[in-house]
Amino acid sequence: MQTYLRGRDLIGDLDFSKDEVETVLDVAFDLKRRRALNELHPLLRDKVLAMLFFFSSTRTRGSFEAGMAQLGGHAAFIESRTTQIAHGDTPKEIGEIFGRYFDGIAIRHVDWGIGNKYLNEVAKHSRVPVLNMQCDIYHPFQILADLMTIVEKKGRDLRRKKMVVSWAYAASYQKPISVPQSLILQMPRFGLDLVLAHPPEFRLMPEIMDQAQSEARRAGVGFEIVDDMDAAFKDADVIYAKSWGALVHTADEKQGAEIIAKYKSWITDERRMKLAKPDAIYMHPLPADRNIEVADGVIDGPQSVVYDEAENRLHVQKAVMALTLS
Ligand code: CP
Repeated sequence: MQTYLRGRDLIGDLDFSKDEVETVLDVAFDLKRRRALNELHPLLRDKVLAMLFFFSSTRTRGSFEAGMAQLGGHAAFIESRTTQIAHGDTPKEIGEIFGRYFDGIAIRHVDWGIGNKYLNEVAKHSRVPVLNMQCDIYHPFQILADLMTIVEKKGRDLRRKKMVVSWAYAASYQKPISVPQSLILQMPRFGLDLVLAHPPEFRLMPEIMDQAQSEARRAGVGFEIVDDMDAAFKDADVIYAKSWGALVHTADEKQGAEIIAKYKSWITDERRMKLAKPDAIYMHPLPADRNIEVADGVIDGPQSVVYDEAENRLHVQKAVMALTLS
């Protein structure tokens, strides 16, 4: 068991080894149990986390803020537009200065081609851990929560279980590609056979695909790419279907929206869920476009685990904060 994570950043999913992720899961389950028993666990008394947001959030903000309070510390909510970032504060200033005020710096910056570089630049200049609350490439805390949820529902031995990571239609906006990318990086290490399904224009970053395929080879699990949602769902144990933008294909918003509009049939509905195993679970990180991306009957149905999944954000984030913040 690898327990020494003090001072570490978590920006990309593979920043923590498999053993270190196992430690995060163990601590997260313990913290979940302690919260259920109303047992105090002030592991970060008087510590303060900066939460710097360049993009909106419901779950990420709520769970980091509640998590720090439950650990005996405090989280400062900082929206980029209310700072002097627009007037000259660079990532160097944020890393240097926030690193001296705070015990950790959590950042959400999903702008395509910008977010991940920004986080890494802050980390270069910070003396405290930098935690990725979602960038343009990765969403590591979402995927830790997803993994915890899958373990809760399917057990710790996930070998020979089929997980589908599928694109789904949504009209609201070109969503980041960080969730599917983080899923395909993290899940093979835990034994799941992956099927990635998307229309051709929704391919993921080539370097992430290469890394994910190499993780799958190392773990001896399946990794298949298909462009047919029905074929992907067949006999699956875990369905994870969400929308993402055609950002690798085109960064142009209008062109992206036109491409998305071609694939309105990519919805997770009751008929499709029947193609999966009868005990398959339905997952989504939320927010979802209801009755566009997923039918109410599925997201509110007996196979849906979306609220447990959202809850587990709290427990895994507390685990990582307790392990990394000094
Ligand atoms: N899943 C997720 O990251 O939710 P928010 O965008 O609401 O934080």
